Amino acid sequence: MKKQHERAIILENARITKTIYRLILQSPTIAREARPGQFVMIRVDIAYDPLLRRPFSFFKIDKEEGIIEIGYQVVGRGTTILAAKKKGDILDLVGPLGNGFRMPPEDADMVWFVAGGVGITAMVPCIEEVRIKRPKTRRVLFYGAKTADELLPHSFLEPICHEIYYSTDDGSKGFCGFLPDCIDAKVQNGLAMPALIYACGPPMMLKKTAEWTISNGIAGQFCLEALMGCGLGACLGCAVPGSVKYGDFKTEYVHVCFEGPVFSVENIRWDEI
Ligand SMILES: Cc1cc2nc3c(=O)[nH]c(=O)nc-3n(C[C@H](O)[C@H](O)[C@H](O)COP(=O)(O)OP(=O)(O)OC[C@H]3O[C@@H](n4cnc5c(N)ncnc54)[C@H](O)[C@@H]3O)c2cc1C
Ligand code: FES
Repeated sequence: MKKQHERAIILENARITKTIYRLILQSPTIAREARPGQFVMIRVDIAYDPLLRRPFSFFKIDKEEGIIEIGYQVVGRGTTILAAKKKGDILDLVGPLGNGFRMPPEDADMVWFVAGGVGITAMVPCIEEVRIKRPKTRRVLFYGAKTADELLPHSFLEPICHEIYYSTDDGSKGFCGFLPDCIDAKVQNGLAMPALIYACGPPMMLKKTAEWTISNGIAGQFCLEALMGCGLGACLGCAVPGSVKYGDFKTEYVHVCFEGPVFSVENIRWDEI
């Protein structure tokens, strides 16, 4: 998978929920190589302030039209600058980076997608790819946010999922409480176990979902976030406790930017996260 350096034109940059912005970019070279679960590093301003690029997952990849989309939340200086960008502005990108999601086995009856907060934007292209490549596999989405107005509109999700279970911290839509408790409640009510769980979201949600996944003996592909200096495997700033095998050698840490961001659930030491 070749990473590319591209100056992308902004086609649209607008808020689509209380907290999520959608950035649509003409970026044909990166779109051609991109896969769900991978990410791009964006220089948010040509003035090099902030100095470091910021990482964002793909929300949509349209190879034919040469378009990529990013869904992002404003949390600090870089994303505040990004939110002020207008149609026609240019952004400097490097990508696609990281490994991306792997498809479930051909005979998987059902997979679950567990997404918290802005993590839904990385999950959407994965659900879409499973829909196309594994049409017989049932696609069940568990999706949580703090409040109903932070949830991505149903119209983004309904065409690509068989079932959707919402949860909100305040009960304004769906289950009242946290996503792992929503999962527990659905299983208690008779929902069958999946062949595989894909997950993306805040660290605590991922950790609880990972513990549940491992204790039920289910395979999992979990998309992690970490503070990133380079996104290219050079600064080692994105190390998290976990192990991958290189021949007979097992690592003590994994690097989210080049061994991830998607990890098999058993490869992360969740008790140290
Ligand atoms: C592989 C990857 C994919 C990502 N995809 C998305 C995405 O699709 N949409 C999205 O909204 N965000 C995504 N993020 C997070 C995003 O990169 C950060 O929110 C962004 O870099 C913050 O930049 P900032 O300058 O606005 O914030 P800063 O001013 O740098 O920081 C503001 C606050 O956010 C925290 N923060 C910054 N970066 C991260 C991070 N990576 N993880 C956890 N906390 C962080 C800081 O510690 C600080 O408290 C992704 C991160 C990674 C590593
Ligand atoms: S961000 Fe530099 S090595 Fe991962």
